[in-house]
Amino acid sequence: MADLDGVTGEDNAAGYGIGIPVETKPYFLKGSNNLGWGMQDRLSRMFCPKSGKTVMLAFDHGYFMGPTSDLERIDLAIRPLAEYADVLMCARGALRGCIPPTYNKAISLRCSGGISVLTELSNEVIAVNIEDAVRLNASAMAIQVHIGGQYERNTIDNLVRTVDAGMKYGVPTLAVTAVGREMVRDSRYLGLATRICAEMGAQFVKTYYCDEGFEKVTAACPVPIVIAGGKKLPELDALKMCRRAIDEGALGVDMGRNIFQSEAPIAILKAVRAVVHENETPEKAFEMYETLKNEQ
Ligand code: 5RP
Repeated sequence: MADLDGVTGEDNAAGYGIGIPVETKPYFLKGSNNLGWGMQDRLSRMFCPKSGKTVMLAFDHGYFMGPTSDLERIDLAIRPLAEYADVLMCARGALRGCIPPTYNKAISLRCSGGISVLTELSNEVIAVNIEDAVRLNASAMAIQVHIGGQYERNTIDNLVRTVDAGMKYGVPTLAVTAVGREMVRDSRYLGLATRICAEMGAQFVKTYYCDEGFEKVTAACPVPIVIAGGKKLPELDALKMCRRAIDEGALGVDMGRNIFQSEAPIAILKAVRAVVHENETPEKAFEMYETLKNEQ
């Protein structure tokens, strides 16, 4: 039976907070203020609202490389790491097959594909539709974009179609800038690639770090940039790269091989978190890595 006792009356004026304005803050992520609630909610599951940063764990390599070293068994390699990552980046087959939904992790779903390491890498198609991305509760859809590649136009087409679908359902799109073997990873190229992806509507962009001029790449990109890890580096070098990237404007990292190919994957992931979220120096984070490694 409805209970009228709980209905606020004139005697409860304080409950209305008369004179207290509703707090309205701009959304914390660069370029994301004018997005809808659902999209901002998904972005907040990936980028920590407190630090404004993210540590993403990428293990989507198999979608074109097959069983990558130290990622032969996704269940064995990734499950122990999942709790230390803000986001898991993978293909839908790996997600459904190897990652328990009870982990309740933000997912950046690999949504482009259709090639293998044996063929032309830029010849990708959209390999997941929006309905399946929503069904999987993806926090983002990741699309590879090959600026300067043989199928550049098709990959930009994959990006804009995914952005359009994502806008309809409130799912952000992550543009992943692939750098062809013949291209130089310098700030001129990375600036071109990331800016095109952002202007085409990607809500955030993944790219590589470069030693010279990376701050220009992040400055000229109107949405957040996260860096890829690339080939396995010695741990201290990987931590230095993370520090420089964050100091020069990246809002996170999306690393794979530098985590799961490490001698101590949990230790390096925790050390990367310290650099990204807690502003730790690479040297201190490396000490932390060594301590954790020796404890395991
Ligand atoms: C493949 C990707 C990978 O997710 C990316 O390369 C990250 O992995 P790693 O840190 O091992 O480079 O986007 O195109």
